[in-house]
Amino acid sequence: MPIAHEKSLLWRSVTVFDGAQTLPRPMAVLVEAGRIAHLSPMEEFDEAIAAGAVEASGGGVMTPGLIDCHSHLVYAGNRADEFEQRLEGVGYAEIAKAGGGILSTVRATRMASEEQLLAQSLPRLQALLADGVSTLEIKSGYGLTTADELKMLRVARKLGELLPVRIITTLLAAHALPPEFADDSDGYIELVCNEIIPAAAAEGLADAVDVFCEHIGFSPAQCERVFQAAKAHGLPIKAHAEQLSNQGASVLAARYQGLSADHIEFLDEAGVRAMATAGMVATLLPGAFHTLRETQLPPIALLRQYGVPVALASDANPGTAPICFPTLILNLACTLFRLTPREALAGMTAEAARALGRPDLGRIEVGAPADLCLWDVQQPAELAYAVQPGRLRQRIFNGAITYAR
Ligand code: NIG
Ligand code: FE
Repeated sequence: MPIAHEKSLLWRSVTVFDGAQTLPRPMAVLVEAGRIAHLSPMEEFDEAIAAGAVEASGGGVMTPGLIDCHSHLVYAGNRADEFEQRLEGVGYAEIAKAGGGILSTVRATRMASEEQLLAQSLPRLQALLADGVSTLEIKSGYGLTTADELKMLRVARKLGELLPVRIITTLLAAHALPPEFADDSDGYIELVCNEIIPAAAAEGLADAVDVFCEHIGFSPAQCERVFQAAKAHGLPIKAHAEQLSNQGASVLAARYQGLSADHIEFLDEAGVRAMATAGMVATLLPGAFHTLRETQLPPIALLRQYGVPVALASDANPGTAPICFPTLILNLACTLFRLTPREALAGMTAEAARALGRPDLGRIEVGAPADLCLWDVQQPAELAYAVQPGRLRQRIFNGAITYAR
């Protein structure tokens, strides 16, 4: 992690999207010792505050650093062959049942050394950073043995040491049934609960635990056992829920104070209500919806009606979302799910922070950690409107400018 700039940094006349809304007047923003130290409309700015500060830039749109709260960024190989198969009409679930899909990435990931995994994941992370990401959640789930799951989590942590980004790790051992347990899914869940979760917790490698609750994943009863084991080790839970069918995973996750339920195309009103009551975040993954050409839309109107916070994430993974372009995700959320650009931006900043249990991040306010993006656009809505890489003028991480153009 870069050390915070020893001098304070000042931006003048920036249009600020603060994580929830666009502030009405051009602002001055001062960053000091890694935090936002001052924020005021330009016409109220006291020049005494500028004394000793470095003028960092002026104009443009400033947002919190983007937060990608759901990714499978660490993996080996790719699945371009399955992409082609799907174009010939073979379904995602069909490919999975034939031993491809997640399991094909499992084979490649098991064969890769830690160094190889790191080398293959690094360019994907660099792409995310170049488009504004400052906090990224990375899941395991392509190892499915204790050693290989821990290997993935170690690579995720290592990425956060190599580049200026906050990495939050999630153990997703209950992602698919490994071939060694082909006829014994309960046996595998036992391994997850009794060995993999305890090992990840003991090494401090996981910040949360996730499951894939689906007919091609694990049953609600099996997911519940995973949640119990996670809780026993003090780890918060979340779920891949209601992606291809309604399994009641969101209601289940709500009973375990889940951080978020993710995908949720098939979520019903009872599920939305349970999530609202539990204070969960709904994480939408329009990249996977787009790739799989899904037609069932997530229940956006109900989520709004019940006041469930909506986060957006890349779901970057080799199967359903080979996409490392966060502002494209903003666009897809608007075009496919009809979110407003304001909702989309909040979904990749303040709401994504909540989905990670880090409500201190994703905001531009005095005292908040200074993870910021300065964009060469006139208004925040443009970030969702146009699909265009290269609009990031400056990236500020932990109070230091880590990229400038
Ligand atoms: O979020 N739904 C399960 N997991 C991933 C897909 C993983 C893969 O296909 O490799 C997802 O869509
Ligand atoms: Fe996912």
